[in-house]
Amino acid sequence: MALPVAAPGLAADRKTDVPNIGWIGVGTRGYWVLQQMYAGNPKTTRVAAICDTFTDHLNKGVDYVQTKWGNKPDAYTDYRQILDRKDIDTVFIATPEHLHYPMFMAAMKAGKNVYVEKPLAHTIEQGAEMVRAWEKAGVVAQVGTQNRSSTLYRRAKEMVAQGMIGDCHFVRAFWYRNSPSDKPAWRYDIPANANESNTDWQRFLGGQAPNRAFSLERYYQWRLYWDYSGGISTDLLVHQTDIVNYVLDKKLPQSCMASGGIYRWTEKDDRDVPDTFSAIYDYADRFQVNYSSYFGNDHYGYGEQFMGNQGTIEVMNRKDLYFYPEPHGDAVGQKRPELHLNGPNEFGEADGLVNHVRNFIEAVRGNEQVIAPPSAGQQAAISGHMATLSFRNNRKVFWDTARNNVRLG
Ligand SMILES: NC(=O)c1ccc[n+]([C@@H]2O[C@H](COP(=O)([O-])OP(=O)(O)OC[C@H]3O[C@@H](n4cnc5c(N)ncnc54)[C@H](O)[C@@H]3O)[C@@H](O)[C@H]2O)c1
Repeated sequence: MALPVAAPGLAADRKTDVPNIGWIGVGTRGYWVLQQMYAGNPKTTRVAAICDTFTDHLNKGVDYVQTKWGNKPDAYTDYRQILDRKDIDTVFIATPEHLHYPMFMAAMKAGKNVYVEKPLAHTIEQGAEMVRAWEKAGVVAQVGTQNRSSTLYRRAKEMVAQGMIGDCHFVRAFWYRNSPSDKPAWRYDIPANANESNTDWQRFLGGQAPNRAFSLERYYQWRLYWDYSGGISTDLLVHQTDIVNYVLDKKLPQSCMASGGIYRWTEKDDRDVPDTFSAIYDYADRFQVNYSSYFGNDHYGYGEQFMGNQGTIEVMNRKDLYFYPEPHGDAVGQKRPELHLNGPNEFGEADGLVNHVRNFIEAVRGNEQVIAPPSAGQQAAISGHMATLSFRNNRKVFWDTARNNVRLG
């Protein structure tokens, strides 16, 4: 994964051999990233403090750190107490989508290095402000779009650059899932002991989301509601538009038209976000992405298919890369062999996460540049927001470069 270049903008006195870390959010993702950080960087990291507004998650995170690193981190329910600490130079933010903006902005103000989970922000405007704040702050920041750090996708990028698929004007990408009717998608289990006193509803709303009565469903299943999430667009799709941009050196789409609905989970379910969703993106340089996601059948799983006029590269489930020569296009008669690479077998990588976190830590240590800075995270997130805006307005949306925002068609 090494990109052995000193991170620009990181002043010499900011580099640190062992980043002293504050961790904000140790739910499903935060706890997993914490474990993966230990797996990749046991000696070059130290976790000094953890913050979570649900007591069980907070305790679990503190216990993990104490067991693995041997020190007992300080526990907080107010993240600002972490940012106030001068001894903490680096923070991880793995809270729900609508909280990334206030936490990231406060962290920039406090001069911390930041790893923030995707999507960068809940809106285009917030993301743009975050990019500007990062550009001024002179700190290291990485967005959690970890596909970029997977060797499999780097191979795909190299193969495209070598001309293996010829010209590519079209990518098909998808993420399909299924679950039993009585276990609706994204209706995660709510811990049996969870209540208003061992969570913190006002801090969950964070001054960002509309004020509502306390709701365990909204606290633990926030992905289902527009107030806190863009649903499929910002939860799943952003990973895939991000990696398409990365593999093919693309930037922003020029337009997006999205469509879908709640077709499966209609009974006794108050979700806002679709379970069936498609989005078509057109880019200025004669290129289209055709995206779809459905939560009622997972036969085709997860994938991106880079369809060139001389061949196809298909990355499936973030684990397998296939190359197929194109039998009917410009490459007829070239007799190039098919290829299959399995990430876990060939590179010992379950996905890109361990590399991604290590890349961030090494950037904080002054040894590498981050592969997913906020500017790249914003590009990926914009695609997601364009799809949400198109769907919710039932209109095609266009990217307006002059306004740095979308325009409804
Ligand atoms: N990169 C990936 O592949 C990937 C995968 C899953 C999730 N994610 C992202 O990770 C983030 C978290 O998702 P999740 O699935 O872990 O959600 P989650 O609901 O499981 O965890 C969120 C945690 O944040 C805590 N929290 C809520 N408000 C807080 C506050 N004000 N201060 C401190 N803690 C607070 C909650 O108690 C919970 O422990 C999201 O942005 C999500 O999109 C990324």
